Amino acid sequence: RQLVVPRRATDPPEVFHWLPIIGSAISYGNDPLNFFFDCQKKYGDVFTFILLGRRVTVALGPKGNNFVLGGKSTVFNAEDAYTHLTTPIFGKGVVYDVPNEVFMEQKKFVKVGLSTDNLRAYVGMIEDEIEEFINHDVNFKAYQMNDINEWGTFDTVRVMQEITILTASRTLQGREVRENLNKSFAEYYNDLDQGFTPLNFMFPNLPLESYRRRDRAHIKMSNFYVDIIKKRRTGNDDHEHDMIAALMQQKYRSGRPLTDKEIAHIMIAILMAGQHTSSATGSWALLHIAANPEIGEALYKEQVQNFTGPDGKMRPLTYEEVRNLPLLDSVIRETLRMHPPIHSIMRYVRDDVPVPATLAAPTKDGVYIVPKGNYVLASPQISQMDPAVWKDSEKWDPYRWNDSEGVAAQAFKMYLDENGEKVDYGFGAVSKGTESPYQPFGAGKHRCIGEQFAYLQLGTLISTVVRAMELKIEKVPEHNYHTMITMPKTPRNIAYRRRKFD
Ligand code: HEM
Repeated sequence: RQLVVPRRATDPPEVFHWLPIIGSAISYGNDPLNFFFDCQKKYGDVFTFILLGRRVTVALGPKGNNFVLGGKSTVFNAEDAYTHLTTPIFGKGVVYDVPNEVFMEQKKFVKVGLSTDNLRAYVGMIEDEIEEFINHDVNFKAYQMNDINEWGTFDTVRVMQEITILTASRTLQGREVRENLNKSFAEYYNDLDQGFTPLNFMFPNLPLESYRRRDRAHIKMSNFYVDIIKKRRTGNDDHEHDMIAALMQQKYRSGRPLTDKEIAHIMIAILMAGQHTSSATGSWALLHIAANPEIGEALYKEQVQNFTGPDGKMRPLTYEEVRNLPLLDSVIRETLRMHPPIHSIMRYVRDDVPVPATLAAPTKDGVYIVPKGNYVLASPQISQMDPAVWKDSEKWDPYRWNDSEGVAAQAFKMYLDENGEKVDYGFGAVSKGTESPYQPFGAGKHRCIGEQFAYLQLGTLISTVVRAMELKIEKVPEHNYHTMITMPKTPRNIAYRRRKFD
């Protein structure tokens, strides 16, 4: 429909392409980062490309991030952009299947479950799960031999995926999920996950077996959670720290409590939202630590200095401490700068929207107008990798975040505004503002609510691993952009050896 609309003089520049419907799908799909950098050189920060029949207007840089993520949700709409992908997986009545006001209430309910009290209770559980895994999983045979000269290897993504689901289910998801993880639950999860691909995003209804499996898995998964909720409603509820318990106590502003199905579907949404994002980030972090052993040693030293008990042994982590280890924090921050798991954040355009002159200079026909029916796309990864913003932007350097003045003065070159004035993004703005060059968790209304949990999960993971072993790899792999969440390409095997004898 949109392709036959004639171009208007105020349309943003369109990326040149040979193939009418396919447009730039191949360049974008293979390497969105290079595609965007190339287009930025040719067309500036705002341009439109054709993606399998859709018109997508990209807005780059901190101002582009602000334009898309700070835009009104009634005009730049997330439901219209995502529901065909997410509703078959999460289910009805939640997230993008409901009007934005309802989802915003649901986000608040989830925040209750992510309270500091709950997070505090999770640290020990996460640490336990990871230690158990290292002590028993086949990937860590060399570690289990208790010999510091024995090197082994593990595929970082496989291991991180397992650790992420183990730790998330032990904490947020609750005991019943954790107990079923090696049984039916894993199968439903895998089938649902096969429905979370770029193919499903581009083509919501293909007659493929994987789509049918996804739909069957959704029903089973939803029933699985509903059974848990029903049992809990009738029995003693001693699950005070998990998300199901928190959701069972919430009420909408209207006074209505959540239905069992709504709780079940929110639980699926949380599972999916946290799984690949955290496992990808954990993988990239371990790969970089392995490629920079001196940082592995410095992280280990940080652990020794902070956690050696009077008996000379390392004691367990606590929530407050994990949050306050500067190098550990910088390692996660820097990893998310170079490898934000989500490279494209999209919205559907419900009404014509003028592009601010400060973002794209007007032509003789006036300011550009993003036409109704297009999609808009923000890619914070572009501003996070922009050499004009960051010193040695291609270099993974956690120390760039260790800034004694408390602002990111050494973290990146000051960003210059349109008048050539320096814009100072303090740490708060760096992570929270809609106009910021650093937004791995998005910004604005749809900003991530899992950030604290993800930091805790990743911080505990990295701490536990560097305490236990040394890591080594020749080279950090390239990005694989063919999955919804950006993963490292294979091979991605990290060599490890035990740090010390028991
Ligand atoms: C939204 C990134 C972990 C739950 C987002 C968005 C990003 C993001 C970029 C914005 C999407 C948009 O604007 O369209 C990440 C990263 C994570 C992570 C990098 C880990 C390293 C988690 C976890 C949870 C979670 C662990 C759940 C516990 C959510 C939710 C939203 C969200 C509920 C809101 C979606 C919306 O309002 O439309 N995340 N996320 N995320 N994330 Fe995360």
